[in-house]
Amino acid sequence: MKKDFLTLDDIKRSKMLEIFELASKLKKKPFSKVLANKSFVLLFFKHSTRTRLSFEIGIEQLGGNSFYVDGEKTQMFRSETPEDTANSIERYVDCLIVRLYSHITLQRISSNLDKPVINALSDLSHPCQILSDLFTIREVFKDLKGLKLAYIGDGNNVCNSLLLGCSKMGMDITVACPQGYEPNEEMIKIAKGYSQITKSKIEIVIDPEKAVKNANVVYTDAFYSMGQEEEKEKRMKVFLPKYQVNLELMEKAEPGAIFMHCLPAHRENEVTSELLDSNRSVVFDQAENRLHVQKALLIKILGLDKVYPILS
Ligand code: CP
Ligand code: NVA
Repeated sequence: MKKDFLTLDDIKRSKMLEIFELASKLKKKPFSKVLANKSFVLLFFKHSTRTRLSFEIGIEQLGGNSFYVDGEKTQMFRSETPEDTANSIERYVDCLIVRLYSHITLQRISSNLDKPVINALSDLSHPCQILSDLFTIREVFKDLKGLKLAYIGDGNNVCNSLLLGCSKMGMDITVACPQGYEPNEEMIKIAKGYSQITKSKIEIVIDPEKAVKNANVVYTDAFYSMGQEEEKEKRMKVFLPKYQVNLELMEKAEPGAIFMHCLPAHRENEVTSELLDSNRSVVFDQAENRLHVQKALLIKILGLDKVYPILS
């Protein structure tokens, strides 16, 4: 495994499968001391409920120590360079878990450090989310290969990571988004490279109904992400009503298709409460699996699975 986990490009398919296996074991046996004497900083410049808590509680369950740092209270917020901040933090901990706006800043931090850096969400990607989501999909359908995921809405960080994750695991993915809200071009290019290897399909379309045809998974996320609050009104006009995922749209997917959302959801905007609260929705399984999968990720990224026999 590479030193850092900034996007799903940093992890091989075989390593992802190993993480899923380990996460399944950890789900059955949550408590151990595998992270004893290991310390983690969570440096967050954005709000978080699930990511923060699943990391903090997961680290505690494995006997490690975590320290949450509000980015806005650090000297970095007062113009210390990201490198100077991170170089200092690195002297105290074994791993940095960072949530921020600019992916470029995250790359600057990670390329300057010896210790691993985990992306807890940037404007470009949300790899921890999608790694856990693939685990959740696997729990439902057993095998990922050959499934189709339809992503409806904004071509944002979550969508970018889904493109990489699905294509890497041999899942077809169709993104339906309005013109001008497409996913990142570089991410599409990388995903297309994977799709050639795994013989999966990637499509970017305008029409949500076209996207959900034959889909086993229908996924959506906020129409405006953190940091885009000023665009809220404009975006609502662009996305609604066409890109709302509701029971009617779900009916056009495969029978047995599941609904996914990374949360937080904006009820009656990108998804109706009727669907979110229905038995099609696996959103709280997604939230739970963040805990198990990230614990496995931490163990793997620190190379502790080999030295801690109870996990094998
Ligand atoms: N899905 C997710 O990352 O949730 P939080 O923003 O609450 O961490
Ligand atoms: N796309 C959303 C995801 C939140 C977990 C955002 O970046 O705000």
